[in-house]
Amino acid sequence: MNKPLTIALPKGRLLDSVVAHFSQRNIEIEFGSRRLSTVDSSGRLEVYKVKNHDLPTYVHHGIAGLGIVGDDTVAESGLRFTQVVTLPFGGTQLCVAAPKGSPLPESAGGPVTVATSYVKMTRDWFHKRGIPVKIIRLGGSVELAPALGLAPYIVDLVETGSTLKANGLEVVTHMTDIQVRLIANPAYFKLHYREIGELADIITRTAS
Ligand code: PRP
Repeated sequence: MNKPLTIALPKGRLLDSVVAHFSQRNIEIEFGSRRLSTVDSSGRLEVYKVKNHDLPTYVHHGIAGLGIVGDDTVAESGLRFTQVVTLPFGGTQLCVAAPKGSPLPESAGGPVTVATSYVKMTRDWFHKRGIPVKIIRLGGSVELAPALGLAPYIVDLVETGSTLKANGLEVVTHMTDIQVRLIANPAYFKLHYREIGELADIITRTAS
């Protein structure tokens, strides 16, 4: 049997969906208590559980040849990968949001202040539209920023919209859709093209 493919999965809310998706296709991934690496039941995959924002680093360095991650995390990393397939879960949207009735100013009366964890995507989006922007970087819970007076606008992921609603905010502008992808280190992809293709077929197949 070939050596297993190496794949990094993100800790956090995506992990359960990934494990369930693979399990429905007879690839069982189980991490023992506190363990961060494992081999799946078929011996096809060696799996590493890593912090979401570290995942591109592991794949870029070829430590994991493959990874499952959102477009947002890839874009913020500034690194380039081969996009193998799109997964049918975890889709979300990156949006500008603010307290109700706060459209983005139309004429420049100084920069728009935005709190976000998505600094690169936010900067690119505002610059592309010629809107001066001052970005305040936060690690999470950005929905607090307008109420506390840190910034009138935020940029964040919106899935159901319930976090915005619960904090008195609404979407001002949809910026981009975010999908979850199987990505590969480009050199690793060339080297393991056949096995990665087989894996892609399995995970894009309808569950049996
Ligand atoms: C994400 C995102 C929003 C929330 C959106 O946060 O940053 O806060 O989910 O989901 P909703 O539209 O379904 O309410 P996450 O739970 O990943 O934690 P974070 O605050 O640390 O980013």
